[in-house]
Amino acid sequence: MSVKAILLGAGVRGAEVYAKHALQYPEELQFVAVAEPDGERRASFAREYNIPGEHAYADWKEVFQQPRFADAVFICTQDRMHYDAAMTALEKGYHVLLEKPISPSPIECVEIEEAALRHRRILTICYVLRYTPFWSTIKQIIDRGDIGKVVNIQLNENVGFAHMAHSYVRGNWRSAEHSSPIILAKSCHDLDMILWLMAQDCKRLTSFGSLFHFKKENMPEGATEHCTDGCPHVEDCCYSDLRYYLGEGRRRALHFSTDLSDESIRETVGHTPYGRCVYRCDNDVVDHQVVNMEFENGATASFTLSAFTHDSSRSVQISGTRGEIRGNMQQQSFTVFDFASNRSQEIKVHDGGSEGCSIMLSEFCHLVKYPNDLYAQASLRGSVQSHMMSFAAEESRLHHGKPIEISEITQRYRRFSGCEAVGSC
Ligand SMILES: NC(=O)c1ccc[n+]([C@@H]2O[C@H](COP(=O)([O-])OP(=O)(O)OC[C@H]3O[C@@H](n4cnc5c(N)ncnc54)[C@H](O)[C@@H]3O)[C@@H](O)[C@H]2O)c1
Repeated sequence: MSVKAILLGAGVRGAEVYAKHALQYPEELQFVAVAEPDGERRASFAREYNIPGEHAYADWKEVFQQPRFADAVFICTQDRMHYDAAMTALEKGYHVLLEKPISPSPIECVEIEEAALRHRRILTICYVLRYTPFWSTIKQIIDRGDIGKVVNIQLNENVGFAHMAHSYVRGNWRSAEHSSPIILAKSCHDLDMILWLMAQDCKRLTSFGSLFHFKKENMPEGATEHCTDGCPHVEDCCYSDLRYYLGEGRRRALHFSTDLSDESIRETVGHTPYGRCVYRCDNDVVDHQVVNMEFENGATASFTLSAFTHDSSRSVQISGTRGEIRGNMQQQSFTVFDFASNRSQEIKVHDGGSEGCSIMLSEFCHLVKYPNDLYAQASLRGSVQSHMMSFAAEESRLHHGKPIEISEITQRYRRFSGCEAVGSC
């Protein structure tokens, strides 16, 4: 029997990424309802997944006005809508697949974790990187002891100048107040990866960063409000909208157009936030940030996020007491160096692009059918801890690099939420 699921938010992640799993593996997953305010997206999802009209809702709240009629809910709405939907779903007895970040509020993260434990429901946070062939193979090599004990991890997140402009200057994640700080919205994946590979609690961290470039004072003279308003810089500005959406960023145009033809993109982009001059947006999230971390056993890690890179990729260097790993996620390859034999081995992995999502969804469906409380709780605890690292990094950055103890920040938010220890509510 497949897991019966309801999709809340048929946007890019929900409809274009996760739902495809149900088409590929109908024996694992079936969608029986959708909630989506955009009529076109709702109708197209209902058509593709054979959802009857009475189970195609315009708002997630309508789903919970009915008695529970499925096993699980996929929450793929925007960051600030996660909390209410997750709490209601858990109370109603649904298992939940929840997009990251859990919530932009640390107290809400703790409350959602507590609710999952209280109601004994599976709550999987979409930390898809953990499931990708690149990172899961590195994890196996570390856990096997091939490089000895991990002493240091250096992870670089190259956001990519054009992706930065799309998501964090013009788009949905441009404002910390309306979505999340970028260290949570984008880099909670990376802090989670460092924590997961280290397999140690993070003790303390410091962070620096700022919005360096995407602001009015850097606007070239005469730049217009929108690129298509006849801006004199459109030919030589690397951030001009059509350069990206008619090229490698075409799929991201799904955020403002369901039709990805040149004609439709040209027609629509100027009427949406995605056509704005990058120096004239209402953005405030930083475009570069560094985080330095110390772990319980004394190991250290450093993380660097930069918008100013030609591509979107992650590179990593992991130093162990007996060997080292260096790799680049975009190239899908890493090298393992063994100090004693002075040998190195290059390992190439294969990822068609959606491998991580598919493995994560198969695991979620399996857990719903055959619950493994210990595994699910450990995974959730790690997800919440890496969120706490993101909140700590942001607090440190806002206080000019002040060191933040992770246990203090976690206890503070557990106290605020009334859940002093995990599982106490
Ligand atoms: N795990 C990852 O790697 C990853 C990557 C990108 C984004 N995300 C996260 O996924 C989430 C969704 O991002 P996206 O890019 O799909 O955004 P999106 O804007 O494309 O999708 C969100 C959808 O929610 C719908 N919605 C709004 N109000 C609603 C309501 N009341 N009821 C039901 N649906 C409602 C919107 O109409 C939209 O279709 C965000 O939290 C984002 O941070 C995660």
